[in-house]
Amino acid sequence: MPYKLLFVCLGNICRSPSAENIMNHLIEQAGLSNQIVCDSAGTSSYHVGSPPDRRMSAAAAKKLGIELRGQARQFHKSDFQDFDLILAMDRANYEDILSLDRTQQYHDKVSLMCEFCSQHTLKEVPDPYYGGSEGFNHVIDLLVDACEGLLKDIINQQLNT
Ligand code: 4NP
Repeated sequence: MPYKLLFVCLGNICRSPSAENIMNHLIEQAGLSNQIVCDSAGTSSYHVGSPPDRRMSAAAAKKLGIELRGQARQFHKSDFQDFDLILAMDRANYEDILSLDRTQQYHDKVSLMCEFCSQHTLKEVPDPYYGGSEGFNHVIDLLVDACEGLLKDIINQQLNT
């Protein structure tokens, strides 16, 4: 069974699809596509069915040369069972996810994405939606750092390689 990751933000059109696609890129480079799988979701239903935001896609293409694939969906309670680790982009996302786990049995599956950063000290991935292109570029930088740390952790702690 592969190790399953779910990245979660508010709209599932900017931060979490970027995290999913960046992580997939690193997983492919590491030759671990059979062992780790990624998905993303939003705590809101605002953009369900939409592709990633074009400003976010432009930043990912410019900075990393990768295409952002995906279609927004809303986080659902069943995701607690379906995924091994759930990564929240900011504290509001984190609290919204945990509020759906009334019995707190899945609490340990939920982490803040920035806990895996080693080059950046910011505790949250800022919402870039209402800002300019610098905000989108910053999201990419933070997510590359976090995804690299996350992949190392998974290789060390979860995979039998
Ligand atoms: P995301 O960004 O949570 O990173 O996908 C946002 C997308 C849409 C909205 C806010 C943030 N919105 O308010 O519609």
